[in-house]
Amino acid sequence: MRSFIVAFLLFSFELTAQNPLFIPDTLVGSSINLSLQEGSVNFYPGPATQTMGVNGNLLGPTLILNKTETVTMNVTNNLMDSSTIHWHGMHVSSLNDGGPHIVISPGSTWSPVIPVMDWAGTYWYHPHLHSHTHEQVQKGIAGLIIVRDNTEAALVLPRSYGIDDIPLVIQTKAFDATNQIITQETALDTSLMINGTIDPFVGVPEQVVRFRVLNGSSERVYNIGLSNNQTFYQIASDGGLLTAPVSMTRLRLSPGERAELLINFSGLLGQSVQLVSYGTELPSAIYGATQPGMGAGQVIPNYTSNPLNGANFQLIDFNVIAATANAITAIPITLVTHAPWLAANSNITRTLTFSPQNMGPTAINGPFMFDMTMFDMMMINQYVPYNNIEIWTLTNNTPIAHPFHIHDVQFYILDINGIAPPLNQQGRKDVILVPAGGGIVRFITKFEDFYNDTVPYMYHCHMLTHEDGGMMGQFIVQAPPVGINEIDFTNSGNLFPNPVTNSLTISELDANQTIKLVDLSGKDVISQFTEQTAAVLNLSSLVSGVYFVVFTHEKNTEIRKIIKN
Ligand code: C2O
Ligand code: CU
Repeated sequence: MRSFIVAFLLFSFELTAQNPLFIPDTLVGSSINLSLQEGSVNFYPGPATQTMGVNGNLLGPTLILNKTETVTMNVTNNLMDSSTIHWHGMHVSSLNDGGPHIVISPGSTWSPVIPVMDWAGTYWYHPHLHSHTHEQVQKGIAGLIIVRDNTEAALVLPRSYGIDDIPLVIQTKAFDATNQIITQETALDTSLMINGTIDPFVGVPEQVVRFRVLNGSSERVYNIGLSNNQTFYQIASDGGLLTAPVSMTRLRLSPGERAELLINFSGLLGQSVQLVSYGTELPSAIYGATQPGMGAGQVIPNYTSNPLNGANFQLIDFNVIAATANAITAIPITLVTHAPWLAANSNITRTLTFSPQNMGPTAINGPFMFDMTMFDMMMINQYVPYNNIEIWTLTNNTPIAHPFHIHDVQFYILDINGIAPPLNQQGRKDVILVPAGGGIVRFITKFEDFYNDTVPYMYHCHMLTHEDGGMMGQFIVQAPPVGINEIDFTNSGNLFPNPVTNSLTISELDANQTIKLVDLSGKDVISQFTEQTAAVLNLSSLVSGVYFVVFTHEKNTEIRKIIKN
């Protein structure tokens, strides 16, 4: 019955969709309460489906956060099972990150206090309990996070949530004959839903509309386009706005990735346009293509009987309605400025190999690992020095593409198989699909602001069945050497003003020392000797940004972060 409905949709994009798209509520403010709970939903005729949700039956509210504000998240676990909540893509301390070590037991509340340091963009939250991530996400726990900042606010962009700024969480699930969600790795994801709505439609005003698209599926990659083959524009990648809108007719989105899109519906009043995944165009060795492996012999059991595989299918029906007052009608020319770290400033190149290297017929069913090592909660796989700029080289020797995700940081892709990434992947990223059969991705990032010698961050494949199966590793960002304290402060203590425009005064110094100002790449930009216990540094010729002042106070070397306007 179910596959009949899907098959019918496949060949009939014009079919009127049945269900209004669910738009999750929003939560704002400096204190946000989230309750993880069991629920039930009537996805199909017959028995209700047992689900999990946040403050409701399925999915969770969209959290709207402002950069530079601090928010307390009170996450109460009202489930029967342990869980965790990870703020995917956000730059937070490892203790606040909600990885597998930060377990919330049933009946208890976890309350991390999170300074929002991220660029305006679309992030998300989901459980990360070791070996249960897929199960808890599939049952319904996931929500979006929208970060706003002044840079984004200054641009002419749609931002009326649910009206011209519409969230689209794309997911597939597997159901059994009694309508229950099944999470065994062999269960096939035949049911597609957007924001938990099967076969959805949404009214879109006749103007430029922004969509915040999350691939929240456990395995499936989408190849997104419009049924009228209209050009659309990607304005943001995982970690915020791009330099400029990138025009496209297809967007490939792998599990965990986000994209903000602008679609101009002007002139289409009364018409209906479908968002479609063009699976027939996906190359082999990607989950969702006709052939999920490199070779014809590499098969996932029952893969070909899933009507979504290797097929074009409708994601959502857009019904164009009247424009709103003050409609946005143009696509901006430029967006934000990026200053990626330079390879020349990196301290180390770290390599990770996706294994096993096995091209045999069953190789596509895993188990997959990094460097032939299964994830072990007790084993730290990488030690990263605090403030290191690093290049990570990812080599995928397996026969299927894996979406690699790393916590703590956003990264810039240097190259994919030796070639610069496409424009829409030149912004900040936290997930990248690494091509199969020896594919190589190199990225650069910096491990700044947080360190903790005991609580690690994770990196893993964001195909959640692979993550749960052991394709995950953990890294510690190491505390700086003894005697060096970094104190993040704003306008107090012995250094002011901060932020600073021209002259920075430093007092309470030990006499006779050299004070240094270091930029984000670790380069000394000012080095000034002082015999006195106070000094004034002239910063007027420096470009705006973050710098570190290194000086000695009571015989301790201190590093303080400052912002130059
Ligand atoms: Cu979205 Cu470690 O996960
Ligand atoms: Cu994987």
